[in-house]
Amino acid sequence: MTGLAIIGGTGIAELDGLVVYREHAVDTPFGAPSGSIQEGRLGEAVVYFLHRHGGPATIPPHRINYRANLWALHSLGVGAVVGINAVGGITGEMRPGRLLIPDQLIDYTWGREHTFDDGLSGELLHVDFTEPYDRELRQALIGAADQAAIDCEPGGVHGVMQGPRLETAAEVRRLARDGCDVVGMTGMPEAALARELGLPYASVCMVVNAAAGLGDVPLSLAIMHQILAREAGAVRKLLETLVAR
Ligand code: HPA
Repeated sequence: MTGLAIIGGTGIAELDGLVVYREHAVDTPFGAPSGSIQEGRLGEAVVYFLHRHGGPATIPPHRINYRANLWALHSLGVGAVVGINAVGGITGEMRPGRLLIPDQLIDYTWGREHTFDDGLSGELLHVDFTEPYDRELRQALIGAADQAAIDCEPGGVHGVMQGPRLETAAEVRRLARDGCDVVGMTGMPEAALARELGLPYASVCMVVNAAAGLGDVPLSLAIMHQILAREAGAVRKLLETLVAR
């Protein structure tokens, strides 16, 4: 697979192993993306990398210019996008250290610029979002995980909250009742914007904590970062295997 773009999140500020040979500073009609987009080789494949929170990481989830990020990647001609998201685990298997390739999401975000449809094009942009993640790209990720013997959950529901604060225990109970397996803050509107542009998109979620009210230790960024550092190696191996297929 070539021309894959990776959008890194918390804990994935750079893509180890990517031999960067170009940096693209792209301007878009929606403003500037989170940073310049790296183009390089991961093994034999051309891969693009963008850090969603900017480098050094400062842009909080609700202030990310998702439209500029997706538009910029699309304008570079990327063939598909994989978003990496740190999340809290809600249901049984979703313990810290686990990877998940979600097949569904529920969007609880608000006030974000969430569409390219400015109402001026003369057409209504009601994109089909029944399956929010691209099926083939998900299957390729699941196949790559199998091939590289990386333990990961091949489906689940990603609840996307507004942040930047973490949830209350009652909010997490509601997410569980809604059917969410994990909770994060950056999965939307990224997935929907990719769909509007016709870009195949999938997500790899890294569970870094038990969601609020479910764990026995207080939520702490330091602990999340320790877990992320461990999971980042598995994510890198997963992506290397994916692009080599
Ligand atoms: N909730 C929301 N976003 C997150 C969490 C969480 O528990 N952990 C990492 N990102």
